[in-house]
Amino acid sequence: MIWRIIVAALLSATLARDAPLMRDARWTEAGPTLARDLTHAPGECLGETSDEIELGRALFRSSILLGGPAARIGLSCHSCHANGRVNARFLLPELTDRAGAADVTSEWASAVRGDGAMNPRAIPDLVDAGARDAFGMGRDPSLEHFAMSVITEEFQGAPPPPSAFAALIVYIRALRTSSCPAEAETRQTLADAANDVRRALAASEASGDEASAHLARFAARERIGFIVERLPPSRFARARRELEQLARDLIAAPATQAWHARFDAAARRLERRERETHFNERTLARALE
Ligand code: HEC
Repeated sequence: MIWRIIVAALLSATLARDAPLMRDARWTEAGPTLARDLTHAPGECLGETSDEIELGRALFRSSILLGGPAARIGLSCHSCHANGRVNARFLLPELTDRAGAADVTSEWASAVRGDGAMNPRAIPDLVDAGARDAFGMGRDPSLEHFAMSVITEEFQGAPPPPSAFAALIVYIRALRTSSCPAEAETRQTLADAANDVRRALAASEASGDEASAHLARFAARERIGFIVERLPPSRFARARRELEQLARDLIAAPATQAWHARFDAAARRLERRERETHFNERTLARALE
């Protein structure tokens, strides 16, 4: 009897490990459109880019800027401000009781701002934020000051290195209506996800500052994790191991040419099988059933 219980527990633990749970699912409202929501995002309104904008873009998508529980579960600016826009499906129970909003004075995320109430506010679109003269409900006149308070007060992050923070601000200022794509929504493809890894690494290599380069490399490893999570373990055991190794190789050293060759080859192989991955809405929908 007792053995049966133990075996059942082990079995369910194994199944739970194999569950197709990607981090984004943790803060996406459940419902009939979940598979669609997890495979699409609002279009990014970014025109011409630069090394500094790319560094800011990589950090905007990384939990490395935040601290405390938010960083631990992998939250980033992008989780709420998807592609600098609005994640209308954002629903993290610790921070909101309705989708598309977040409590910016929560005890869960902040040791200093918590006000003991669940009072979520609508997530604003950051496009054209550079042209605004007041930010947030406190109508902060400075984008820099507001963004720093989001990092250090709202989410208990450490103040980022000056060049990293400057890059984050430059990225936000580069988001403009005039650069919005024609389609309101884009599909999150494997090719784009692989490019995000390359873009974060390029930003890391271009950064003259060792501390910022390090953060961007961490961001690149997280983007590899984003791909790994979307590969069903039963069919992609080898590819997952390969990508996990590639991510580990970035801990100690920058990406070499050989690293890029391995990554590109792995990405190409995966792109041929994209339909079997959870980048594919129908495949994901079946897995969520
Ligand atoms: C949990 C969701 C969430 C995360 C994560 C988040 N934000 Fe926000 N953000 C919001 C909400 C909600 C507001 C509105 C706050 C208010 O009304 O005071 C906001 C407001 C802003 C604004 C002001 C926009 C305006 O026009 O008033 C900026 C700029 C901003 N966030 C940048 C960032 C940056 C940079 C990060 C990452 C370091 C980040 N946010 C992370 C939810 C989030």
